Amino acid sequence: MKRKLIIIISAFMAIFTASADEGMWLPSLISQRIADMQEKGFRLSAEDIYSVNQASLKDAVVLFGRGCTGELISPEGLLLTNHHCGYGQIQKHSSVEHDYLKDGFWAMSRAEELPNPGLSVSFLERMEDVTDIILKGYEPGMSEDQRVEIVRNNSNALIDEVTKEGKGLRATVEALYYGNQYFLFLYRQYEDVRLVGAPPSSIGKFGGDTDNWMWPRHTGDFSMFRIYADKDNNPAPYSEDNVPYRPKKYFRISTKGVQEGDFTFIYGFPGSTKEYIHSEGVRYIEEIGDPHKINLRTLRLDIMNKYQAQSQKVRIQYSSKNANVSNAWKKWQGEVKGIKKMKTVQTKQEFEKAFDRWAQGGEFAGVTDKIAGIYKELEPYQFATDYYSETVRTVEIANFAMSIARLFVQEDSTMTFDSAKAAALAEAFYKDWYLPIDKESFVAVMNEYDKNVPADFKPEYYKEKLASYGSIDAWAENIFTNSIFTDQSKVVALTAEDKDMVTADPATEFFNEFLKWYYADILPVTTRLNQELQLAYRDYMRGQMVYCRTQRIPKAFYPDANLTLRVAYGHIKGYSPADGVYYTPSSTIKGIMEKDNPDIFDYNIPQRLRDIYATKDYGRWADASGEVPVCFIATNHTTGGNSGSPVINADGDLIGLNFDRVWEGTMSDIVFDPEICRNIALDVRYVLFTIDKIGEADYLFEEMTFTE
Ligand code: ARG
Ligand code: GLU
Repeated sequence: MKRKLIIIISAFMAIFTASADEGMWLPSLISQRIADMQEKGFRLSAEDIYSVNQASLKDAVVLFGRGCTGELISPEGLLLTNHHCGYGQIQKHSSVEHDYLKDGFWAMSRAEELPNPGLSVSFLERMEDVTDIILKGYEPGMSEDQRVEIVRNNSNALIDEVTKEGKGLRATVEALYYGNQYFLFLYRQYEDVRLVGAPPSSIGKFGGDTDNWMWPRHTGDFSMFRIYADKDNNPAPYSEDNVPYRPKKYFRISTKGVQEGDFTFIYGFPGSTKEYIHSEGVRYIEEIGDPHKINLRTLRLDIMNKYQAQSQKVRIQYSSKNANVSNAWKKWQGEVKGIKKMKTVQTKQEFEKAFDRWAQGGEFAGVTDKIAGIYKELEPYQFATDYYSETVRTVEIANFAMSIARLFVQEDSTMTFDSAKAAALAEAFYKDWYLPIDKESFVAVMNEYDKNVPADFKPEYYKEKLASYGSIDAWAENIFTNSIFTDQSKVVALTAEDKDMVTADPATEFFNEFLKWYYADILPVTTRLNQELQLAYRDYMRGQMVYCRTQRIPKAFYPDANLTLRVAYGHIKGYSPADGVYYTPSSTIKGIMEKDNPDIFDYNIPQRLRDIYATKDYGRWADASGEVPVCFIATNHTTGGNSGSPVINADGDLIGLNFDRVWEGTMSDIVFDPEICRNIALDVRYVLFTIDKIGEADYLFEEMTFTE
């Protein structure tokens, strides 16, 4: 099976090497793309990108936290990522008195760097094709359940083996091409990662959610951390005795500047894409999934925004939550528009028709119909799942209640309760919880739930409760008046005796009853259908490859993103989002001043920046036009998870940090349009300018290496 795929893949490389900038390539196989990269301007070798024998660029890239990328920029463990990636940490260190979100934070010495329990970064040690090992014992004809079992056991055994020796080792086995191929990823994970600096949000989040996903953009979206290790440079939990980590490799920084047409290369951890799905999968997203989820989030955002505008305290409390809700909300809107504009459903249907004609009587006959059939069966369950996760699961007090309920543990005949843990969870929860937002959101989303989810897909518990209360409003009144979880002092006073009371609490009950229903009535079906889908897609994926190769249809095949390290290359380029409009590829500080408005929160810049602009006190950071460059766009294929990724020039030097995509191109997780799809990067010169002129932390430059 593996051999077959490799033959297919290599055949592709040969025929379509000069395809567009679409693609997220595996670093260990980059030798298959290197000729194309070099032809487009890259001046380094495949070994420079990824090597297990010598230090290579991969050793300067980390998975940051749970879903971002970061890069090393000094021999002393200094790391750059986005402001929005460090946002949770910056927010946790913030209060009304020390508002680092608002004012920024700069450690003026190592001693001032702030620890972040729970935050880790992972370096990829190596990756390799382990398909044969993972499928050992699998015979064609076995059931998908058996296959899943075999894959799980073989993976676990392999992971145990490779992580045995060495501190902080962690490994995963990932399916590529729907399980046609398996790769092992071995990481070394560091847990002592300290905050070094962050600009004020009025720079780091300039434009806020108004400009999010948009070009032209002027966001200084960066923050800085430092990785600490034990004296032997090994991972260690936070300790005052830890020392700055010494990386095998770090990026040199190029301040030469960028030009339209320049080669760019992004090295990072894209989270998830669905480039090869069937038209029915796209139709669900376009017509059902995205529109309903957008609507539910609009309701919640309106409520959050209203209360955040009224109080400084609430603004801080909900800043991170709001950004999270808003981010996908806006992306989905761009995605739906993009899919519509590209007529993706129709194009895929036509592709499927032609594929079916070709597949008749062969190995891949019937596979597209099979997929369509599974989607049809899955649809109501998917819909119920989407509603469940965007309504019930978003009720903060209910989530919190459940997390406390889980601290009761039956040990033999005695009940125990971890009250220290409860107090800690309560501390974190109440710091950022505002009852009126939670309550109004409950009413808003549960009313939509009531209206839109068919009765067959609602739990009996829900129907009975609603009947007894008479309305969602009355139900909310009950929860938010009677639950003990509205009151921190009641939560910290809980003891093991209170188990029954906590279980019966209306907030716990609400969460728990839905959870039980979800596990009993929904999840088993979606799991089974997704497994069937996975199996069918495994064939369809291979089928698409064979079909395109034999029919000479130019299509780039690369594995869908799955939060593993990838290379995306392209070049700096503007685009035309609409008839009569053309966007140039870079922005400058001038644009910040054009947007500056003290009356609008998202556009109210620090006075200091106004003063600098007025006197043109740019130091060494102005470009040829005399302005400070801020952001640029390029044709690199990226997605969520690529945030914070290094943007690298033809010589392997750092020119920027990836942080976003343009709104008109957000359908690139499903379908990539080289005319429209652009990633958005922060120009590294704006990072340096901000450190220097706003943070006055230019002492940090001493440990960096500049190429000019
Ligand atoms: N859109 C970028 C990303 O997908 C930036 C997100 C920052 N969050 C925000 N709500 N502004 O993650
Ligand atoms: N901002 C995104 C992230 O957090 C990257 C942008 C994108 O989705 O393209 O990873």
